Amino acid sequence: MTRWTPTGIPSQTGRTFLVTGGSSGLGAEVVRALCAAGAEVVLTCRDEDRGRAVAASVDGPAPEVRRLDLADLKSVRTFAETVAHPVDVLINNAGVMAVPYSVTADGFEQHIGTNHLGHFALTGLLLDRVRDRIVTVSSGLHRLGRIHSDDLHYEHRRYQRWLAYAQSKLANLLFAYELQRRLPADGPLSVAAHPGVAATEGQRVDTSFQGKILAGGRAQPPAMGALPLLYAATAPGVEGGSCIGPDGMFQRNGYPEAVGTSGRSRDTAVAGRLWELSERATGVRYPAG
Ligand SMILES: NC(=O)c1ccc[n+]([C@@H]2O[C@H](COP(=O)([O-])OP(=O)(O)OC[C@H]3O[C@@H](n4cnc5c(N)ncnc54)[C@H](OP(=O)(O)O)[C@@H]3O)[C@@H](O)[C@H]2O)c1
Repeated sequence: MTRWTPTGIPSQTGRTFLVTGGSSGLGAEVVRALCAAGAEVVLTCRDEDRGRAVAASVDGPAPEVRRLDLADLKSVRTFAETVAHPVDVLINNAGVMAVPYSVTADGFEQHIGTNHLGHFALTGLLLDRVRDRIVTVSSGLHRLGRIHSDDLHYEHRRYQRWLAYAQSKLANLLFAYELQRRLPADGPLSVAAHPGVAATEGQRVDTSFQGKILAGGRAQPPAMGALPLLYAATAPGVEGGSCIGPDGMFQRNGYPEAVGTSGRSRDTAVAGRLWELSERATGVRYPAG
């Protein structure tokens, strides 16, 4: 699996991809590469003008730009109801990174609410229409994360933006792996991916020294960061329950390969508890089994 680039994407003509957060950064790169491979892409974002600007930049079939606010379950439900056609690949990419404390429309802490609970709800509501695979985007910083089952929303503990982000990115992995365990053998695959470190807007939110250390260093261009996401979404032979990340040192940069993630991300007891909490918080119940 060496030096894989988007030229390795087989023709995606006739296949539909739904990319959350396609208006910026990695999502925009993923949208461009998929359109160039002939895919039909539904690009979701909050700010449709930004989405349309990305749509205007693609080479290939123009993506459909749709509004979806993952920080508002009403928006997620409304959006999911209007997805009439089957989706081959759902890419759960949108995310906020190390933002100051705030809550979503439903009162969830912003990182866990947007990055995990919004995608948990979206995936559950679309599951009967997804044919091939679900890719959920995590981060190497999941290693700093703990799932605070007793205080998921930082109501009682001191808020630390990077730890809140890390909790949500650990939740992304726990979700991707648990989903694979729950899906039927003839159902879609659930795969995790992470980009390493890429110079996007999201990555520049925290300009403090700590922020620069945690997010920065030698960030690779967004097009490189998008490679693991694209590989996870299109390569034949990707295994359900795996994580695709960059092959460089500390998984910070490089070309896509199957990578290891923390022991905590593979903890099935924590995953089961998080699943219950997520169903309760969102009101979205997945089919049993
Ligand atoms: N860049 C990195 O180094 C890095 C490292 C590890 C993991 N990641 C992960 O990669 C993913 C993409 O991040 P990025 O670096 O490309 O950041 P980005 O440039 O800031 O893009 C984030 C995208 O998410 C969307 N978004 C944010 N909040 C949303 C909400 N409430 N509802 C719907 N969409 C929302 C944004 O849409 P709007 O245009 O509407 O704001 C934007 O399109 C994230 O999951 C992030 O955690 C990135």
